[in-house]
Amino acid sequence: MKSKAELSEEIRKLLKERNAIMLAHNYQRDEVQELADISGDSLGLSQSAAESDAEVIVFCGVHFMAESAAILAPEKTVILPRMDAGCPMADMITGEQLRAEKEKRPNVPVVAYVNTTAEVKAYSDICCTSANALKVAESVDSDEVYMVPDRNLAQYTARFTDKKISWWDGYCPTHENLTAADVKKAKEENPSALFMCHPECSPEVIDMADHVCSTSGMYKYAKESEAKSFIIGTEMGILYRLRKDNPDKEFILPSQKLICPNMKLITLEDVLQSLKEMKNIVTVPEDIRKKSLVALNKMLKVPRD
Ligand code: 13P
Ligand code: SF4
Repeated sequence: MKSKAELSEEIRKLLKERNAIMLAHNYQRDEVQELADISGDSLGLSQSAAESDAEVIVFCGVHFMAESAAILAPEKTVILPRMDAGCPMADMITGEQLRAEKEKRPNVPVVAYVNTTAEVKAYSDICCTSANALKVAESVDSDEVYMVPDRNLAQYTARFTDKKISWWDGYCPTHENLTAADVKKAKEENPSALFMCHPECSPEVIDMADHVCSTSGMYKYAKESEAKSFIIGTEMGILYRLRKDNPDKEFILPSQKLICPNMKLITLEDVLQSLKEMKNIVTVPEDIRKKSLVALNKMLKVPRD
């Protein structure tokens, strides 16, 4: 078996040879984040994929993220090192189900969280991520908005807008694993810690938070805050960079269930193998790509926090 250093060296060499760039989501395994050229949240990585000059994008994340890169940059080859790395929340609504919902409310624009398939994006008016959901909802020229697939992100957005927000009843199984009792216990054990969480958490958990934001928003908040300890309400992969960037601060995970199995599938061996063989290439049929691109591009024009 090759060592981490050997694998990393081979991957770096191949990335160069293939004019490739390696992107990693903030929930990826530590060693994958460490080697990546860029790590970030869904929105930041989509933007990096679109702006990069590389010919090949090795997307270490889950399927919808690689698909977004393929939609935004069709001239590039997008590799997802493990094709089985999906997002259960994205799979909670199909294009057909969304089409049926739209028939029930013909004049209500659809805001699709990027955690959706390309087909669902194609049926939507505009996309959003956890970093810009409120701004996106506000940007839509309508008093009413239908959000898919995350009920928690939709209900959180509804707290800050006068628009009528309705939603599909999807959710992230990983974030819903975090209970209000877990947070209460962590707060009791760490009374001076601030609690920050992702908007995919349940409303009861969000009610207990000092700060609610995307994964990249958490890095910013931890860095800028004067607090010395933080309880983290999101997938545990985020701890790698939080701890690396803030060695003087403490980060507490309130539940060991905050793990997304799909985000942990990609290993350095998978990255190397897929690059070597140029396999696991994500493509989107051109008719769906063109329609979903409209929704993604509209989102990218909305300023982020
Ligand atoms: P971010 O957009 O905050 O990176 O979140 C993506 C995700 O899958 C959260 O579960
Ligand atoms: Fe999907 Fe949740 Fe995993 Fe994010 S953490 S990829 S929303 S299942």
